[in-house]
Amino acid sequence: MEGLFEALWADYAAVTPSGEAIVSLLERRGERIVNDHIALRTFERPGLGLEVFGAYFEGHGFEQTGEYAFEEKRLDALSFSAPGFPRVFVSSLRVDTLSAQNLAHVEALCEACPHRGDAEALLRERPSWPAVTRGVYQSLVDDSEYAGWLAAFGLRANHFTVSVNALQTFDSLAQLNGFLLEGGYELNGGDTATGAIQGSAAQLLEQSSTRADKVQWAFADGEAEIRSCYYEFAKRYETPDGALFDGFVPTSADTIFESTDR
Ligand code: NI
Repeated sequence: MEGLFEALWADYAAVTPSGEAIVSLLERRGERIVNDHIALRTFERPGLGLEVFGAYFEGHGFEQTGEYAFEEKRLDALSFSAPGFPRVFVSSLRVDTLSAQNLAHVEALCEACPHRGDAEALLRERPSWPAVTRGVYQSLVDDSEYAGWLAAFGLRANHFTVSVNALQTFDSLAQLNGFLLEGGYELNGGDTATGAIQGSAAQLLEQSSTRADKVQWAFADGEAEIRSCYYEFAKRYETPDGALFDGFVPTSADTIFESTDR
C-alpha cells in the first residue's frame, strides 16, 4: 500500500511540476510533508466505478468515512481513512448524464481499458486507455471538465493535499497561502491569503489549492497545452469529541473541483 501512494505521487508529480517545487520550498524551511488526502477520479462504468475502489481500500484496512453527491458536477464520491496513510477521496462521474456522443467516447475508453475490475492495476498502470484526439478532449470538456481531464490523463491522483496541521512553521492556512503567493504561486478562488480559503473552522475543514499547472500534452493527433493537476492544502479542526474531523465538506469540494477548469 505504501508503494501505491509513492507510485501515485510519481505519476502526479510527472504532470504537476509545481507539486515537487512546493515540496522543495517547504522542505527548505525544515518542513516534512504529510499528506492529508489524495483525490482519485473515475468514470462510473462496470469495473471502473466507486464500488471497485471501495472494495479495494476496505480490503486494505481503510474505513469508509463519508459518501458525497455533487449534483452540479454530476459526481458521486466516497472517502476512506486508515491510520498512517493519507485519506483517500474517490469521485466518479455519472457518465449517463453526458451527451450521447460524449457517452460513446467515454464508453470506448472504458472498453479499451485493460485493468477493469482491478483497482490496484487501474491506479498503477499507465496509460489507462489510448490517447484521445484534441477534438474528443474538447467535446468532453465542453460537456464536463472532469470527463475531459480524466479522458486525457487517465486514472491517477487528481491532487495530493498537504496536511497544514502537520506543518511546524505555519500557524494557519492563511499564513501558508501568503507564503505561496509570495513565492509566485497562483491560488484558486482568490489572490489574497484569506480569500483563497474554502470552508471554515466552523465546518471543521479549511482548504486552498494552487491553480492547476499547464502542460504540453500528447493527444492522439498532436500536442496541445492543457491544465493538469493542482496541489491542495488542508487544515482540519477538532470535532466536539476532541478528534480531528476526518471527512470532507461537499460545498467546499464543489468549488475545489472547478480549479482544473480552463
Ligand atoms: Ni481534495
